[in-house]
Amino acid sequence: MNKSKAKIAVLVSGGGTNLQALIDAEKKGIIFSGTVSLVISNNPGAYALVRAEKAGIKSAVVRRKECASADEFEQKIADLITDNGIDLIVLAGFMSILSERFTRLFERRIINVHPSLIPSFCGQGYYGLKVHEAALAKGVKVTGATVHFVNEIPDGGEIIMQKAVSVRDDDTPETLQKRVMRLAEWQILPKSVEKISREILDANLEV
Ligand code: GAR
Repeated sequence: MNKSKAKIAVLVSGGGTNLQALIDAEKKGIIFSGTVSLVISNNPGAYALVRAEKAGIKSAVVRRKECASADEFEQKIADLITDNGIDLIVLAGFMSILSERFTRLFERRIINVHPSLIPSFCGQGYYGLKVHEAALAKGVKVTGATVHFVNEIPDGGEIIMQKAVSVRDDDTPETLQKRVMRLAEWQILPKSVEKISREILDANLEV
C-alpha cells in the first residue's frame, strides 16, 4: 500500500461525539497516520451526519429496513468500504451488531469503542445509557471505556486500550455517561485509531 495515511470509515447511529473527537484529533495532529474519509450511518436522522458534512467528509446512509435481509444490509456497507479503499473501520456508537461473515471479511480492521471496562457490562443488550444504568445498579466504584477489535462475539475482540473513570455517589446514568465520554472515550478512541492506523501502514496491508 503506497499510502501516507490509512483511510478510515466511521460507522455511526446517533449523536456522533466520538466521530467529532476523531475529526478534532486529526485537526490537532493526534491522528496523523490515518484520515477519516467516509462516515456511514444506519440512521438518516443521526446528528453524526451533520458533523461529517460540516467537516467536509463524505457520508452515506444504509438503512436496515430498506434492505431485504441482514445480509443485504451488511453487503451494502461492505461494498462502500471496499469501493472507497477503506483500511480501517471504526464503530463509534454504531448500534447494530455485525455478523461473523462481515467481521471475518475485515479481520483486525474493525475497532469499536464501548462505554465500560470490558469484560464488565458488555455484550448483547449493553449499549449506550443501558451500560451506565447497569454499572450504577451494580454499585461499582470504577467504570470507564474500552477500545477493542471487533470479532464475531459482541464486545469480545482483543482489547486495544482502556481508561478507568471513578463513579460518584450522586451519579445518574446521564452524568456518568457524559463523564465516561469526556474522560475516557474521547481520549482513547483517537489514540487507538492512530495506533492501529500506524500499524496498518507499517504492515503495508490492504483490506
Ligand atoms: C458512546 O458512549 C459509545 O461508547 C456507545 O454509544 C455512545 C455513542 O455516542 N456505544 C455503545 O454502547 C456500543 N456498544 P456518540 O454517538 O456521541 O459517539
